[in-house]
Amino acid sequence: MTNNTSLVLPDEDATFRLGAILARHLEWPSVVYLEGQLGAGKTTLSRAILRGLGHSGSVKSPTYTLVEPYELAQGALYHFDLYRLGDPEELEFLGIRDYFQETTLCLIEWAEKGQGWLPQADLEIRLSTAGEGRQVAFHSHGESMTVIVAKVVKDFGAS
Ligand SMILES: Nc1ncnc2c1ncn2[C@@H]1O[C@H](COP(=O)(O)OP(=O)(O)O)[C@@H](O)[C@H]1O
Ligand SMILES: [Mg+2]
Repeated sequence: MTNNTSLVLPDEDATFRLGAILARHLEWPSVVYLEGQLGAGKTTLSRAILRGLGHSGSVKSPTYTLVEPYELAQGALYHFDLYRLGDPEELEFLGIRDYFQETTLCLIEWAEKGQGWLPQADLEIRLSTAGEGRQVAFHSHGESMTVIVAKVVKDFGAS
C-alpha cells in the first residue's frame, strides 16, 4: 500500500509545525528518506522533527560527518546526509548495519548516494521550492506508514 499526499509550507514556521507533527506520529523503527535539492529544507525539517521529539541541543548538518547520532527518550535517532559520500561501499566502513535496527529511527538526506547499501524507505518526504516557500510530498510504503501520513496531513491542516 502506498500513498501520495502533498502540503504547502509557506515559510520556515510551517516546516517547524510539520516537524512537530511528524515527531508526534513517527514510530520506531522507521527509515525516512528526505529528498530534494540543496536548500530544499531537508535539514530544517530534520531539526524540526528532533526538536519535536524533545531534543533541545543543537542539530548539526551531518554534511561532513555523514551521520549524527541522537539518544532520545523514545530511542536512538540517526540523521544522515550522504551528499559527500564518494562510493556507497564507504557505508560499510561507517558500520552502516549497526545504524539500521529494530530500535532506531533513521532520517536520511541524499539516500540515492547510498543506493544498494541502505534499507528501503518506509517513508519518503520530498521537498521542493514553491515560490518563497516549500512544497512537501509524502510517499509512504506499507499500511502503517500510510495511516501515519494521513494523521500527519490531518493534524497539519488543523494546526
Ligand atoms: N517552508 C519554508 N519556506 C521557506 N524557507 C524555508 C522553509 N523551510 C526551510 N526554509 C529555508 O530553506 C533553507 C533550507 O536549508 P536546509 O534545510 O539546509 O536545506 P537542505 O538540507 O535541503 O539542503 C534554510 O535557509 C531554511 O531557513
Ligand atoms: Mg541538508
